[in-house]
Amino acid sequence: MTPSQAAAIERGWPAYGIHVDTRALDLARVFGNDHPVVVEIGFGTGEATAAMAAVDPATNLLAVDVHTPGFGQLLARVAEQGLDNVRVVSGDAVELFRDMLAPGSLAGIRMYFPDPWPKARHHKRRLVRTDFVALAVSRLASGATLHLATDWPDYADQMRQVLDSEPSLVKAFDASVDPADRPARRPVTRFERAGLAKGHRVVDLVYVRA
Ligand SMILES: C[S@@+](CC[C@H](N)C(=O)[O-])C[C@H]1O[C@@H](n2cnc3c(N)ncnc32)[C@H](O)[C@@H]1O
Repeated sequence: MTPSQAAAIERGWPAYGIHVDTRALDLARVFGNDHPVVVEIGFGTGEATAAMAAVDPATNLLAVDVHTPGFGQLLARVAEQGLDNVRVVSGDAVELFRDMLAPGSLAGIRMYFPDPWPKARHHKRRLVRTDFVALAVSRLASGATLHLATDWPDYADQMRQVLDSEPSLVKAFDASVDPADRPARRPVTRFERAGLAKGHRVVDLVYVRA
């Protein structure tokens, strides 16, 4: 972690940071309003997170990751841009969903470029699997969206397989499109940029909770 990331954490954490533990989160209290809440799982450096928060101040973003330097990067962006609708969660998304979020409480879940774990023997580490998706989807309100993106074709296939067989989800979008035409104006992420530079093809998948 760089000194400026450490300083951003020291300054920003008390107001904007949340550690994963076992207490139920009161989202209206956390954000100070009752705007809809979207969780972003695995925000990385938070570049896309901050961009999405800036264009949509009426949506609250709960951004979770396990990667410490990223907290400093996102908190620095939050401070620089004066973003009041972002909270940074440190810890495992599985525990956040299981222990801290109430059923039906979310307006959306975003998962952009989850770790691909390319080796077959590591596929079981992938986050998009039946048990976690069932848990995550149970936290969505009716009509809320689950938006995923990946640049690994076999992970995209795994995502389709898992999401198509989740009974409470209906597919709304499945395509590889120009960034400007993506659903919900998803900005290019840092991880995605690296994939695009290598010629990877990106797939966006959007499902709606029935
Ligand atoms: C490949 S990176 C993508 C980051 C960012 N979304 C992007 O596109 O640039 C995947 C991110 O997911 C995070 N991650 C992996 N497992 C996680 C978990 N169980 N809970 C929360 N975040 C996780 C990693 O720390 C990493 O920052």
